[in-house]
Amino acid sequence: MGSNGIRRYGLYIGGRWVAAAGAEVFPVHNPATGEVVGEVADARAADAVQAVTAAVEAFPAWAARPAKERSEVLRRAYDLMLAHRDELAELMTREQGKPLEEARGEVQYAADFVLWNSEEAKRVYGETIPASHADKRLLALRQPVGVVAAITPWNFPAAMITRKIGPALAAGCTVIVKPAEQTPLTACRLAELFAEAGLPAGALNVVPTTRPEEVADALLADTRVRKLTFTGSTGVGKILMRKAADTVKRVSLELGGHAPFLVFDDADVERAAREVAASKFRNAGQTCVCTNRVYVHERIADAFTAALADVVRGLKVGNGLEPGVQIGPLIDGQAADKVERHVRDALAKGARLALGGQRRSDSARGVHFFEPTILCNVTDDMVIMQEETFGPVVPVQVFRTEEEAVAKANRTPYGLAAYLYTRDLSRAIRVSEQLEYGIVGVNDGLPSVAQAPFGGFKESGIGREGGKYGMEEYLEIKYVSIRL
Ligand code: SIN
Repeated sequence: MGSNGIRRYGLYIGGRWVAAAGAEVFPVHNPATGEVVGEVADARAADAVQAVTAAVEAFPAWAARPAKERSEVLRRAYDLMLAHRDELAELMTREQGKPLEEARGEVQYAADFVLWNSEEAKRVYGETIPASHADKRLLALRQPVGVVAAITPWNFPAAMITRKIGPALAAGCTVIVKPAEQTPLTACRLAELFAEAGLPAGALNVVPTTRPEEVADALLADTRVRKLTFTGSTGVGKILMRKAADTVKRVSLELGGHAPFLVFDDADVERAAREVAASKFRNAGQTCVCTNRVYVHERIADAFTAALADVVRGLKVGNGLEPGVQIGPLIDGQAADKVERHVRDALAKGARLALGGQRRSDSARGVHFFEPTILCNVTDDMVIMQEETFGPVVPVQVFRTEEEAVAKANRTPYGLAAYLYTRDLSRAIRVSEQLEYGIVGVNDGLPSVAQAPFGGFKESGIGREGGKYGMEEYLEIKYVSIRL
């Protein structure tokens, strides 16, 4: 840490903090103030290759360590994360903008992935298979995939890293993390904590960069990297998947979403409104599972919209370090442009602004806030009903029948998360089964937890993170046939 409170990090390769090959560094800004909060080495392709070499060298010894020992290292990393919870949360709020309380929640969420996988490390079982001949024995072993490239997003600077490195390290893989250029500081601090926990040199490497394409290309072209795990947009995910195909890497992709929230006419409107707001305004709307469109039954539409407006009106927007703030800044100008474009398009096509709608930008400082916004009378032709907004805007559309609501919810190339609110148990089960989504929240706008599978249908991704499913992504199955 510099004397002015600015964090400085090199690249973390082979257990050492090193300068980038080009000796370049880049600043990290607080999106709420524009202030520089850190400075980080700027990796090039050559650095990525170095990191792969370090991960390759560390792999045999880490994979060979008894599962119990890998488990203990992860358990210590979990303890250290919680011991440093306030510090990590503040760092995260400074570089990402989310309110401090939410950042504290993210540290717990992130640490939970480490804890879960430290326990799961001990339960990677194989199988014996009945043979066809008396003199044979057949085994199915599960072994670590090998070196993993993890490309992570800015919206959860800690949890999207631990959701990947937790199971990868538990399985015996070694990892190179390329964090988002907006939020590399949390990634670097996590690397320090994992080293303090006893993770051997080279098992975890971190290569921040302002040239994500160059570094990703180097990682993907390298035949020594056996798996890509990525969280980010569907567009980038498709490009990475194509590139990973050249060396037939295993891929896990957690991509974009366009979550519908169905509010049925038997719902308790106040509770439904609170749940929609919780899902929509988490991280200022910047999560892949945030509600992106609400469908409410026509009989309760007015009451629900009024209740939602009451909840949303009370949300405080500002610098996440200030007490009481619930909605922080958007990550950058591009993000604010997109939110504004969605709102303008909807209004131009006849939507009614029930609340908010204003952008507050100081472009010179790179600071962009958007008021929590509710749009009514939205129609299917509006961009907001088709594209992921990633901002604090909730469009509300009315439906008449359950069939219509389900059909509208499913009419999208995305399939990550969907939500419904109802008191009718049969409907809850029926609709959950019909929704073409990897995650369904029934009367629950915040379903994400470390022990459950997280991932999407359709263009929202491939594979699952979390729980026992998350570990599978980092394991190969090896069949061994033994003649006695
Ligand atoms: C994401 O936005 O990608 C993750 C959200 C979550 O884990 O709930």
